[in-house]
Amino acid sequence: MDAPDISADLTEVLYSSDQISARLDEIAAQIDADYAGKDLLLIGVLNGAVMVMADLSRKLKTHAAMDWMAISSYGAGTKSSGVVRILKDLSTDLTGRHVLVVEDIIDTGLTLAYLMQNLAGRGPASIALMAMFRKPLAMKTPVDVAYVGFDIPNDFVVGYGLDYAGRYRNLADLGILAPRVYS
Ligand code: PRP
Repeated sequence: MDAPDISADLTEVLYSSDQISARLDEIAAQIDADYAGKDLLLIGVLNGAVMVMADLSRKLKTHAAMDWMAISSYGAGTKSSGVVRILKDLSTDLTGRHVLVVEDIIDTGLTLAYLMQNLAGRGPASIALMAMFRKPLAMKTPVDVAYVGFDIPNDFVVGYGLDYAGRYRNLADLGILAPRVYS
């Protein structure tokens, strides 16, 4: 679906699918250059990263293997507690691999700080992070991000993989959710 299909649920479109695609073209070119001659392994973090993984990987001009993790925050409903439970681990041994973690969004940074430390301990040749969106004003811990699509305001955003109560992931654009939807 596109933003006009659910315009009553959005207060603003932050980035259209065309803008996202154009930015991903630039990032893919950077990644191609940075990993030239290296065997790249992309790791997507379910569920939100499905869209960016599918689009970014197809824009690369070189081979890239893919694997997936599913994680969940510990805590009584406290998303981003910083301690994550691995619901589905990788199928791939990271030893000696050049790993690029692909995420839809970095919000507080707590999830990725934990995950990157966990993966770095598995002996990769290199490890880096790509995030389509980042909320600088929400960051609670620093996370080293090699490739960022867009820095966005600290609003409730949906689309391009990001959901509210399981909906809006399949919105092609990134929009700000109207407060009446969740209040
Ligand atoms: C999102 C995103 C990151 C995490 C970032 O996942 O994909 O994994 O939140 O948040 P943080 O920076 O505050 O730690 P979410 O928990 O919404 O799961 P989902 O991808 O399945 O929607």
